[in-house]
Amino acid sequence: MRVIDFIRAQYIENGHVAYGEHISMTNHMLQSAFYAEQSGSSKEVVVAAFLHDIGHLLHGLPEDISDHGIDGFHEDIGERCLKGYLPTLVTDCIRLHVQAKRYMCTLKPAYYDKLTEASRESLAIQGGLMSDQEVAAFEAEPYYKEAMRVRVYDDMGKQAELEHPDLDYYLKLTEECLMMTEMPAPDNTLTV
Ligand SMILES: [Fe+2]
Ligand SMILES: [Fe+2]
Repeated sequence: MRVIDFIRAQYIENGHVAYGEHISMTNHMLQSAFYAEQSGSSKEVVVAAFLHDIGHLLHGLPEDISDHGIDGFHEDIGERCLKGYLPTLVTDCIRLHVQAKRYMCTLKPAYYDKLTEASRESLAIQGGLMSDQEVAAFEAEPYYKEAMRVRVYDDMGKQAELEHPDLDYYLKLTEECLMMTEMPAPDNTLTV
C-alpha cells in the first residue's frame, strides 16, 4: 500500500470524529497546517502540523477522551506509525507536541493563560507541569523549538469557521516530504 493512501484513508475514514471544540479532527489538523503555512513555516513544519494528531485517527478515540480521564498517548501512536516514512523533524514534532504544551505551561505563564478550558483540563492528564529534569530532557530534543511552533499552530487550529486549503493540498505537501512511498505488506507469518 502506498503510504500516502494509508494517510489519506485515516482522514477519510476517521477524521470526522469530534475534536471536542466544535470541529472535527480533520478540520482541526487542516487549520493547524494552515496557520503553520501562514506563519511562513518550512514545508516539514506545515506537514507536522497537518499530521500532529493522526494518532487520534489511528486509535479511533476523540481528542476529548482526556475529559474522561484517559490519555490515549496519541502522540506516540502517531510517531510510531509514520517513523521512517517522513523526516525525523516531522515525526519528532508529532511525538513532542503534548510535551511542548507542558513545557510552555511550565515556563511561560502567559501561554497557559491563553489556553482553552479543555486544553487546561487535559494538561493534568498529560502529566501537568514539567519537573526541572523534564524541562532539560525536552530542551535536549533536537527539534524542540519546531515542536513548540507546531504546538502553537495546534492551539490556533480550533476555529468554528476558517477558510483554508483542502485535504488534498496538505496530502500533496506530505507526499513531497515522504522518504519512503510504499508500506511493507502486512506480515501474516506471526499469527499464532
Ligand atoms: Fe494532540
Ligand atoms: Fe491537536
